[in-house]
Amino acid sequence: MLSSSKKTAGPRIIVFGNEKGGSGKSTAAVQVAVGLLRRGHAVATLDLDARQGTLSRYLTNREAHGGLPMPVSSAILPSSLENSAEAAAADKASLEAVLSGFEGLEYVIVDTPGNDTELSRRAHARADTLVTPINDSFVDFDLLARVDPKTRRILGPSVYAELVWERRKERALAGGSPIDWIVMRNRLGHSEARNKREMGDALAELAKRIGFRVAPGFGERVIFRELFLSGLTLFDLGSAAGGPALAMSHVAGRHEARALIDAILAGPVRHGTASTAP
Ligand SMILES: Nc1ncnc2c1ncn2[C@@H]1O[C@H](COP(=O)(O)OP(=O)(O)OP(=O)(O)O)[C@@H](O)[C@H]1O
Ligand SMILES: [Mg+2]
Repeated sequence: MLSSSKKTAGPRIIVFGNEKGGSGKSTAAVQVAVGLLRRGHAVATLDLDARQGTLSRYLTNREAHGGLPMPVSSAILPSSLENSAEAAAADKASLEAVLSGFEGLEYVIVDTPGNDTELSRRAHARADTLVTPINDSFVDFDLLARVDPKTRRILGPSVYAELVWERRKERALAGGSPIDWIVMRNRLGHSEARNKREMGDALAELAKRIGFRVAPGFGERVIFRELFLSGLTLFDLGSAAGGPALAMSHVAGRHEARALIDAILAGPVRHGTASTAP
């Protein structure tokens, strides 16, 4: 029998977000979802970029293999109501309804679009963990902070960091636990060594200033792209699902994906999410 003193806090909600398109949100989201499934956890996925439907398509392709571990999955399209206040209320209600259906699970992986939508804002405010992949260049860094192009000095937070800050405030007011924000560099190896080092230094400085952790990133690997189309992840290679034979770069990629999952799970233990959360 379950101990009555142990109140369940509901699943840990892990949101993949960044207002920049093509930074690796959906790629990282499926690696983490399947990695957690393969560790034996009960996982749900939620596609809030349902118009593009990258995550949903991935799951359809995955299902077709048969016999692979699958998450419980859902997708939400933005409300089509014309009145913006009514549309926002409808989006919030849809999100809460779907999340409450995931109550008995351990993790909810939420993929968000690469632009600012009401659904994405509401999901950010519900994130226990927020994972922001950024391409390894100062072009993407610009989303987090304004940087002096000559000296590389950080001048202040910029658009996406402000959005996260607003959601953090909102969540604190509603009595939720703080958002554990993780920034991960993606497609490493793409840029030259000097740029890589400068990015590392700038991220470490910014992490202290605006409050995020830097997780190990993903290298630039063709396999991430190839596997995605077939509905597989690096964690499925070598299993009955087939796919390409395991090569060195796949082992390295799998190691990167594992390190990201470990970094997510190493985050602070939650003390329950208020059901009145925004
Ligand atoms: N580490 C990587 N190595 C190689 N290709 C990658 C890597 N990460 C992502 N890609 C590729 O880059 C493209 C964009 O990635 P993805 O779809 O995950 O980004 P996204 O942030 O979800 O984009 P959007 O904002 O449009 O939803 C995809 O074709 C993906 O396969
Ligand atoms: Mg995407």
